[in-house]
Amino acid sequence: MSRAQVQGVVVARARVAEGIHRLTLKCPEVASSMRAGQFVNVRVRDDGWDPLLRRPFSVSRVDGDRIDLVFNVVGVGTKAMSSYEPGRSVDLLGPLGKPFAVDADFETALLVGGGLGVAPLPALTDELRRRGKSAITFLGARSRSQLYREHLFELHVATDDGSEGHHGTVVDLLSVYLGEHTVPSPMIFACGPTPMLRALGAFAKERSIPCELSLEGEMACGIGLCQGCPVERVGGAKRYALVCTEGPTFRAGEVIV
Ligand SMILES: Cc1cc2nc3c(=O)[nH]c(=O)nc-3n(C[C@H](O)[C@H](O)[C@H](O)COP(=O)(O)OP(=O)(O)OC[C@H]3O[C@@H](n4cnc5c(N)ncnc54)[C@H](O)[C@@H]3O)c2cc1C
Ligand code: FES
Repeated sequence: MSRAQVQGVVVARARVAEGIHRLTLKCPEVASSMRAGQFVNVRVRDDGWDPLLRRPFSVSRVDGDRIDLVFNVVGVGTKAMSSYEPGRSVDLLGPLGKPFAVDADFETALLVGGGLGVAPLPALTDELRRRGKSAITFLGARSRSQLYREHLFELHVATDDGSEGHHGTVVDLLSVYLGEHTVPSPMIFACGPTPMLRALGAFAKERSIPCELSLEGEMACGIGLCQGCPVERVGGAKRYALVCTEGPTFRAGEVIV
């Protein structure tokens, strides 16, 4: 898998939902080589050492030589990124990590995103469509105002407050959907908060549906050097896997989330 330290140039920045920003960067090196599920590690500081560590973000979508990053402001790095202006150069490391298994043996992809876990799903949708596979998307958010739903198809929504779609969790919504529809040879691809991934992993196991989870735990180097992103494996010779190089995508049941 190719990876490099490259410079992206900000082409556009937009507020796309409540507290959610999209940064579009011209970055031909990442755009031409990245696969859905991979991420870039962004250097958010200008000068000096603060913040020391890069911040990881899924590549949300590729359009020609441009990539989109979609994020919400939670701290110093994302606050800085939310004020980047067009023309600014951004230091990136990527594409990093293991992509989604789009070539696995399935007919229908069930895409499940919780909160900002929606970020990698547009790129995944594009890649599935290029392969002629169908995708049904299930999106969960606290409220309608926090839904980012661009470039997603066959979309079903759940909100915690009931302001749109199913009133409840996105895992409940998926369960209701599968109770009412016959889906040929499904496979679940999911990204979102850990409790959602845990519940989804259990649901998939119960229904014997293959399932891949993209983890978004905290990270440092992003390239397998610092050992700062371990996740416990289930069985096998090695006790831990590194999320940055052996993930962020894992088969449900392969690791303990
Ligand atoms: C592979 C990968 C892909 C990611 N993709 C996206 C994405 O597409 N969009 C997006 O919005 N976020 C994504 N994240 C999470 C993102 O990296 C963090 O939100 C970001 O690093 C926060 O930086 P900060 O400087 O703003 O916050 P900090 O100042 O570093 O932290 C602020 C608060 O957020 C918490 N925090 C920091 N990082 C994480 C994390 N990874 N998970 C949970 N809590 C965290 C801290 O503990 C702290 O409480 C991804 C993470 C990984 C590992
Ligand atoms: S973040 Fe350094 S090894 Fe994974």
